[in-house]
Amino acid sequence: MDTIFDEIPSLAKVEDREFGTPRKVKSFVLRSSGLKPFQLEALRLYYSSHVVEFQKEILDFKALFGNENPVIIEIGFGMGTSSHRIAKDRNEYNYLGLEVFLSGFAKLLSLVGNDGLSNIRLMRFDAVEVLTHMVADSSVAGFHIFFPDPWPKKKHHKRRLIQEPLANLMASKLKKGGYIYSVTDWEEYAYQMLDVFAKVPSLTNPFGGFAPPKAWRPTTSFEQKGLEQEFPINEVWVEKQ
Ligand SMILES: C[S@@+](CC[C@H](N)C(=O)[O-])C[C@H]1O[C@@H](n2cnc3c(N)ncnc32)[C@H](O)[C@@H]1O
Repeated sequence: MDTIFDEIPSLAKVEDREFGTPRKVKSFVLRSSGLKPFQLEALRLYYSSHVVEFQKEILDFKALFGNENPVIIEIGFGMGTSSHRIAKDRNEYNYLGLEVFLSGFAKLLSLVGNDGLSNIRLMRFDAVEVLTHMVADSSVAGFHIFFPDPWPKKKHHKRRLIQEPLANLMASKLKKGGYIYSVTDWEEYAYQMLDVFAKVPSLTNPFGGFAPPKAWRPTTSFEQKGLEQEFPINEVWVEKQ
């Protein structure tokens, strides 16, 4: 039987790796995703208007969005309900959402496509590779990383997204005055975030520690689960000097 990957082959690939070569340590594992009819429909309807495919070429944000509004990149939007809300409410920005989880990707695609939002594009690809190959230095106004996978077991800590290599990479992509806004319900990871960002010379923390929550950030689906277990929510906000 044909699958959506036969219809849209580029959807199937989430990392840039030659067949048969060893996989680098990644911050994600792919969950299987049985897509519902509305998600399949969204992929068919909105792929060409709202999805950017991976290529080793720097993106032209002005051409992509048709304006020069500042660009925010979100890494790991999950089901995307908060990303949809933010793109609608704060439409003076453009958004590039990165997520490898197909079900969430198709869900957000349906939300933004049905609303006809023109200030958001999505990519189903490893964020590290997208930043490395497709985003110009000093071109990004902000990064959102809400509830990155905590990888709580020590042997899995190497999979955590927020470590020095990604922090340095994000800092190099930020414009002067741009920000990284990262939130977690895993306390020990929250302290790791503070430490990691403190080691990047071009980043400053205007709060000297955890930041107050931003009123415009809606509760995410992953956050909701943490709140039900009474996990503390810690917010980290740093800026490029
Ligand atoms: C714990 S979920 C949080 C999702 C959402 N932000 C929320 O708060 O509900 C983290 C998400 O990050 C995605 N992710 C992890 N590493 C990624 C990477 N390198 N590139 C793109 N997405 C990634 C995972 O697929 C997962 O859906």
